[in-house]
Amino acid sequence: MRPTQSPFPGTRLRRTRATPALRALVREDRLSVDDLIWPIFVCDGENTRQPIPSMPGVERLSVDLLVEAARQAADLGIPAICLFPYTDPALKTPGCEEAWNPDNLSNRATRAIKAAVPEIAIMTDIALDPYNTHGHDGIVVNGEVVNDESVEALVKMGMAQAEAGADILGPSDMMDGRIGALRQALETNGHKNVTIMSYAAKYASAFYGPFRDAVGASGALTGDKKTYQMDPLNRREAMRLIERDLSEGADMVMVKPGMPYLDICREAKDTFGAPTYAYQVSGEYAMIKAAAANGWIDGERVMLESLMAFRRAGCDGVLTYFAPEVARILNRG
Ligand code: PBG
Repeated sequence: MRPTQSPFPGTRLRRTRATPALRALVREDRLSVDDLIWPIFVCDGENTRQPIPSMPGVERLSVDLLVEAARQAADLGIPAICLFPYTDPALKTPGCEEAWNPDNLSNRATRAIKAAVPEIAIMTDIALDPYNTHGHDGIVVNGEVVNDESVEALVKMGMAQAEAGADILGPSDMMDGRIGALRQALETNGHKNVTIMSYAAKYASAFYGPFRDAVGASGALTGDKKTYQMDPLNRREAMRLIERDLSEGADMVMVKPGMPYLDICREAKDTFGAPTYAYQVSGEYAMIKAAAANGWIDGERVMLESLMAFRRAGCDGVLTYFAPEVARILNRG
């Protein structure tokens, strides 16, 4: 039997795409300034900006300029910034003691921003790579990144950040047990309302290259981070990590990198329903900027589309170096 031949398509999905008004009515999601977290690199000095060649448009800022940038971000409506210090090589030690110095660059920056721009949320990074010469996120003993000793150091680091006024602690180290240890320390030391955004599903990725230039860790890294960061082929393990970190006391979870891992974002959101974020990392930023600079893509449209994709994949927000640029466009309407 032949199916009945109709002279017209049964369903015309193009009808609701015909005009901007109809497209607006059926649009399923929105990208908003509320979704943006802006990662910023901090350096020593005064009135100092240091461009990062592999991240065109991104600069390290001294604390005074950082405070101005935080002011601008808050005025644009960006809810949070995330601080990454460029540590003076003279302060790097095998024990990473500078990481929990109450007056280290990151903590000084946090206090300065809190005083001047109290309304913006400050996220800080917990990992030891800026504070040692081998570039690893934990303590290294005989060539091994040792887990439990690293967790002790990371807790000290996180507590110093909480004391300085950080609103969101971002453990990016991937050691086992750090979320529970951190949560317990916060609860028992008067910081019960400090939130934790766990870098829960963080992959051992080549997309972090430009970041390591930005924080001065690229020449330094001995070996790779595969004994603690995840294998890019693993999906189920990501769910186990997210479940574990939530059960240990994480308030929010992150998937990193972003664009190549949208399937992980979607599954994480559907499975746990927790606040879920993606980190559109330095290499993703660099690729878009480089292609745009060559005239190969429309940089502004690709930037916006890449961020919309995170919303569609279930993310509540995105850490992105594009944050101020995007906020300006979104505010323009
Ligand atoms: C360090 C850290 C990294 C990034 C954020 N925190 C690099 C790494 O794990 O080697 C990468 C961010 C980016 O590439 O934009 N713990």
